[in-house]
Amino acid sequence: MMRISYSLFVILLFSFCAQADSSYPYKQASLPVEKRVDDLLSRMTLEEKALQISQLMIGPNDNPNNTVTKKTSFNPRIGSFIYFQADVEKRNEYQRIAVEETRLGIPLLFAYDVIHGFRTVYPISLAQACSFNTNLVYQAARVAAKEASSSGLNWTFSPMIDVARDPRWGRVSEGYGEDSLLNSSFCVATVRGYQGSDLTEPDTIAACLKHFVGYGESMAGLDYAYTDISDRAMWETYLPPFKSGVDAGVATLMTSFNDINGIPAVCHSFLIKDVLKNKWGFDGAVVSDWGAIRQLKNQGYSADPLQCGAASLKAGNDIDMESKIYTKIPQMVDQGLINIQDVDEAVRNVLRLKFRLGMFETPYTKTNLRNRYLKKEYREVAQQLAVESAVLLKNESILPIEKPSKIYLAGNLLDDREALLGSWLAHGNTNDVVGIREGIDRFLSRKSRVVSQPKDADIIILCLGETKKMSGENGSRSTLQLHNANQIDKYTQYDKPIVLVVGSGRPISYQTIEPKVDAILHIWQPGVEAGNALAKLIFGLENPSGKLAMTFPRTVGQIPVFYNKHQSARVGNKNWSGLYQDIESTPMYWFGHGLSYTTFKYDNLQIDMNSLKASVSITNTGNRKGKESLLWYISDPEAKITQPLKKLKNFEKVSLESGETKTVTFTISPMEHLSYIDSKGSILIEPGRFVVEIGGLKESFILDEKDYL
Ligand code: NOJ
Repeated sequence: MMRISYSLFVILLFSFCAQADSSYPYKQASLPVEKRVDDLLSRMTLEEKALQISQLMIGPNDNPNNTVTKKTSFNPRIGSFIYFQADVEKRNEYQRIAVEETRLGIPLLFAYDVIHGFRTVYPISLAQACSFNTNLVYQAARVAAKEASSSGLNWTFSPMIDVARDPRWGRVSEGYGEDSLLNSSFCVATVRGYQGSDLTEPDTIAACLKHFVGYGESMAGLDYAYTDISDRAMWETYLPPFKSGVDAGVATLMTSFNDINGIPAVCHSFLIKDVLKNKWGFDGAVVSDWGAIRQLKNQGYSADPLQCGAASLKAGNDIDMESKIYTKIPQMVDQGLINIQDVDEAVRNVLRLKFRLGMFETPYTKTNLRNRYLKKEYREVAQQLAVESAVLLKNESILPIEKPSKIYLAGNLLDDREALLGSWLAHGNTNDVVGIREGIDRFLSRKSRVVSQPKDADIIILCLGETKKMSGENGSRSTLQLHNANQIDKYTQYDKPIVLVVGSGRPISYQTIEPKVDAILHIWQPGVEAGNALAKLIFGLENPSGKLAMTFPRTVGQIPVFYNKHQSARVGNKNWSGLYQDIESTPMYWFGHGLSYTTFKYDNLQIDMNSLKASVSITNTGNRKGKESLLWYISDPEAKITQPLKKLKNFEKVSLESGETKTVTFTISPMEHLSYIDSKGSILIEPGRFVVEIGGLKESFILDEKDYL
């Protein structure tokens, strides 16, 4: 039974006496959304508006970084709640009070961080990016939307599309790596997966692009830190994934915690109002991050909460997540800090979202849904994604293990199921996880066996990795070393081949590890199907096809290091600027690195200047089936505004039988693939020489003005 406080009782009594008339235009599903929004807005008091653009946590809070000072009591006139409980009955009861017992009957929105799965936890986003398989990632987001919506949620705070180039930052695990195009592509795939083709369908949820913008640039890889981002980098690197998500029809966006060159993101009116809303035409809702408006004081913006609230609202931040400052909107209006139009714009965006989600027609979640989680087909998607996101970094002809063998298993990852799920595990449960030992036992061929002493083994499989807490929000690290790498030395004395399996939420420094082992399979944090996916890869039932979405430095001292760095004044040393005196200057493993059990040969790269089509043939020259991600790069060696060494412009994953050849084409669109953006956000294109690069082949072409004018 829910307990109702005295003040809530008074609100309910008042509300009940003044129930909205069902003939009001905003109650008519047949009317256009904007008409309904106008009508409802015209009936709201200022206090109702203030509550409508406030978001609070209700029930337990599973995120220790979401710091709350006081527990929230339930107010049915709040616009949205963060709801972790997955208790559909309770959720529907809250909703019933809002819909039936408040004056206007505006339904509540229930939101939560569903980042890489709800109950069927699939690999972390950084791992997903390594699959280069947007279709698979789309399917995984569909699974998450089905499980989350059937548990009462309408909205997830995902995808995170912060381009991230500092692997010390714990949140690199939540995004799609160091490249803008990868973040854009996986952003579109996940938005479509969560939102489906119609947001009113009961198995869809609103997506939320975060964190707007430049949060990945947080200084020294620390969360909540200042960011110093040039206008050029903002337009070229950080904004494009958000533009792609907006064009794909995302319903909401979250502003970030960072201060951008002196203007905190939550009150950055140029970026939110001028760019996002006016230039790009975004008319969904913008929510602050947790407590971000209150934190403006800590960032040195203003010690007055009303000033902070007014600045955020006027900048275009529609919803206040947990700062409890927008509830004081009436005071801000009284003091002349904001005017009613500022408030109305924010309320409109929230109401529009609710109408788009069909909340007024279908406010409740079905309660009779059985077996909504971990269905066979959901696990299949999770497994395939875990298979395709694992990256084989090194292999001295040791994997796959197909001959009858005696195997010795060791390492912390064997039994740490929590580490296999990773951060943001939502309702993921360690009991659902197929652990590594379990997976290996399941797929071990009858002639092989696990031995109890390393000295008796033919092969040692050592499974090491970061623990769950070492990445994710506020999970930054000052080194990229494997914290338990010294275990490797325990096994090198046996003089047996060592297969190192590594799980982590970030790139790891392999500089000193690599020479000691025969194979390295980097599995990230693979989710509930970890053991099955890994065992299939180890025993050759699956062939690795993941490629790195983030460059792995040799040591932390190389940071920042990423593939699309700008050109250096002195080229030499493998086409890579200056020298370090103590280590090789190039990183350990480049973006795009990843081996297979078969080999691929790229041939015959051609560019047809009439159609601007580039084509290449690819052959599987090994003796087993495999998948290869073809990464198309273009460089612009001479430009008025100098360009990076190369940029990824397109990618495609193909499957090839042994001996099979395919021709793959990429149609170059000059404005999309050959232009660049300046520090004001203007798109420029120049005629001249461009170089297409794929699989180690390069081909130049000359672009003439007639090709794009
Ligand atoms: C803070 C995080 O930065 C954000 O990504 C998350 O969505 C909110 N907390 C809500 O949990």
